[in-house]
Amino acid sequence: MTLALQFAMAAEATPFLERRGLAHAHTDPRYGFEFHEGDGLVVAIAGTHPRYRVDSIGTISAVLLTSTLLERYRPALVVNAGTAGGFQARGAKVGDVFLGAEVAVFHDRRIPLPGFEAMGRAHLPVHCDRALAAKLGLKVGVVSTGDSLDCTPEDLAQLTALGAQVKEMEAASIAWVCERHGVPLVLLKAITDLVDHPSATSEQFVKNLALAVGRLTDALEALMEQLP
Ligand code: ADE
Repeated sequence: MTLALQFAMAAEATPFLERRGLAHAHTDPRYGFEFHEGDGLVVAIAGTHPRYRVDSIGTISAVLLTSTLLERYRPALVVNAGTAGGFQARGAKVGDVFLGAEVAVFHDRRIPLPGFEAMGRAHLPVHCDRALAAKLGLKVGVVSTGDSLDCTPEDLAQLTALGAQVKEMEAASIAWVCERHGVPLVLLKAITDLVDHPSATSEQFVKNLALAVGRLTDALEALMEQLP
């Protein structure tokens, strides 16, 4: 049985790859996606955009990467691990690690046309073992996805209406693809910044990235030990 891990940023994946000693196996020639293999695991990373020379974060690459990953490796389960924003008003702290709750949603797809509103927000299935979260000391919360690091008033209204506790840029798009393939998805997200904090998200993100990735890597190792 193959288990797949999907990351958006190399900085999020590297400590896990180093701890596990997983070898680089393949680079997708068109999109630059990176795949590492070993120990019954495949680790998929969005890679570097060839012109902008930064990690290909966000929903476009996430969808293509998940589709490529599922077609190429046919994993039994996908774990999407990464960093995210949290909400201090809902008890989140920098460095917390969340297991995604049973649905993932989008907060920046507003389509006020008859029938399209629900498809825009989407309610996409996520596998959530709350007993396991409690055992591993993980918080549980709804993960919401959009294509911006900042948060407009419209985004915030949607996040609040959806009961989101975690704001990031890939999970719901990965869930969209996993649902079509009938492959279960687990979300693991470490908090780098607080959306409702006065300092800029980008400053918090840069300052707290190493701490959050350390916590993410520890949580991922603990989660892997519990999976069959
Ligand atoms: N990744 C880390 N923090 C984030 C935030 N606040 N919004 C979107 N993606 C993030």
